[in-house]
Amino acid sequence: DVYGPNRRNSAGLDLSVKADRDRLAAHVAELDKLTLSAGPLVGGKLTAGAPPMPVQSPTDHGRVVGVVSEAQLPQIDQAFRLARAAQPAWDQAGGPARAEVLHAMGDALEANIERLCAILSREAGKTLPDAIAEVREAVDFCRYYAKLAQEQFGLAGEVLTGPVGEANSLRLAGRGVFVCISPWNFPLAIFTGQIAAALAAGNAVLAKPAEQTPLIAMEAVKLYHAAGLDHRLLALLPGRGETVGAALTAHEGLDGVAFTGGTDTAWRINQTLAQRQGPIVPFIAETGGLNGMFVDTTAQREQVIDDVILSAFGSAGQRCSALRLLFLPHDTAEHVIEGLKGAMDALVLGDPAQAVTDVGPVIDADAKAALDQHLVRLNREAKVLHQLTAPETGTFFAPVLAEIPTADFLEREVFGPVLHVVRYRPEDLEQVAGALAARRYGLTLGVHSRIESFAADVQRLVPAGNCYVNRSMTGAVVGVQPFGGEGLSGTGPKAGGPHALMRYAVERALSINI
Ligand code: NAD
Ligand code: ALA
Repeated sequence: DVYGPNRRNSAGLDLSVKADRDRLAAHVAELDKLTLSAGPLVGGKLTAGAPPMPVQSPTDHGRVVGVVSEAQLPQIDQAFRLARAAQPAWDQAGGPARAEVLHAMGDALEANIERLCAILSREAGKTLPDAIAEVREAVDFCRYYAKLAQEQFGLAGEVLTGPVGEANSLRLAGRGVFVCISPWNFPLAIFTGQIAAALAAGNAVLAKPAEQTPLIAMEAVKLYHAAGLDHRLLALLPGRGETVGAALTAHEGLDGVAFTGGTDTAWRINQTLAQRQGPIVPFIAETGGLNGMFVDTTAQREQVIDDVILSAFGSAGQRCSALRLLFLPHDTAEHVIEGLKGAMDALVLGDPAQAVTDVGPVIDADAKAALDQHLVRLNREAKVLHQLTAPETGTFFAPVLAEIPTADFLEREVFGPVLHVVRYRPEDLEQVAGALAARRYGLTLGVHSRIESFAADVQRLVPAGNCYVNRSMTGAVVGVQPFGGEGLSGTGPKAGGPHALMRYAVERALSINI
């Protein structure tokens, strides 16, 4: 029972405990003396790819965290060959045997939490609470999918009732070789989780991390191998999307793609897959969102303010689940906005490796430039209500609160700490919510109200994969809030949910006349 009383999520570290804080600080200091490296890791061997490029910290561009060398075509071919050779035995070993490796991986991540947090903070600009939460999520994915493998991928399969004299059963099996392509904003949890799901279902994996975050991916692959995984079953192929990503998804050797990233990239990959000849392969895509929260006049103001600040500005707004559009009723809007400005002023921006920091940098210069450009538009065509001041180093973008007339103003996801407020009259709810639904994203949705029918109306009007009522709307917990969207936000199945492994598998029915 994956929802049962005995299931536990990873405990992580406690930043209110000095010993935990000190251990984290020591690991960050240790990391600052090193230059990590990542490159194509095929069959467990680090092979020379393209000339190494520096990986700079978004917090301070003077700080080079490591170097990465991009995978080349012969390495991609070799990775497919090795994976293809090793996959049948892994599949035939059955779910319970695979679960052992995934449990060992979960334990290995937990045992290395301080080092992983230090890398997450330096390479991806994660605050320490976010880094801890991310390692916990990675651990949870391994353990949760181990449990699903055990329960759903037994070698005998499920016995089905049929006519007398006939034995019928249905068995799940791996598809073959999966390509897993992940984003930089959860460079450990999503990277590890995609791999864990594909492995749990009996596949081999070729993993391509985001170009911004190869170093933490390298750590994760090494831990998988150390946890007992046949090295041929998991290759790391770092590099750019348009080169390595495109080569992987066009390759004749693939049997499925698991992708998390932007909606535009999902379209591109879908087109590449459509042009391949041969078997039609599944495409699992988890993409962006244009996420709204609807507040009514019965909502508890202080709770709204806390939940909005966390949902919109936590992780510097760089979560697919983050709140982008806050719908406030005219009667209470001004009062809530004043509270939000005060709460924004209390946010600490700065080095994410310091325990006091609430908001770290955005990932890179391109991300900052896109946000700067959006701010110019907000100043020109909308109304900026409040903005903080950003540190000068690295790629910081200070949180912004702006007012826009309707959801129509935003055509696409704005990926960073920008919260857009829309004022509405209760009698216009249908039209206002309809404008948001018309964008056709469907990831997260928030409601703050003490009236159940209001929450039900909002859910009916705005389809979304994850709806949160009277709480924050980020930080889905594996096994508790299965996560993923619909429409422009993704294909499902939900990560961390009981059906997560089905699209990674084929179903084989067997009928024996006895
Ligand atoms: P991105 O789409 O730019 O990149 C994601 C991955 O795709 C990277 O590894 C990239 O190298 C690769 N890629 C790019 N072009 C490719 C191509 N042509 N072929 C194959 N691979 C290619 O996204 P990002 O900027 O890394 O991440 C942020 C985005 O991810 C946001 O839109 C966010 O909403 C989304 N996201 C969604 C979820 C979810 O679960 N729904 C979770 C996290 C992030
Ligand atoms: N799963 C992540 C969240 O819920 C993206 O915030």
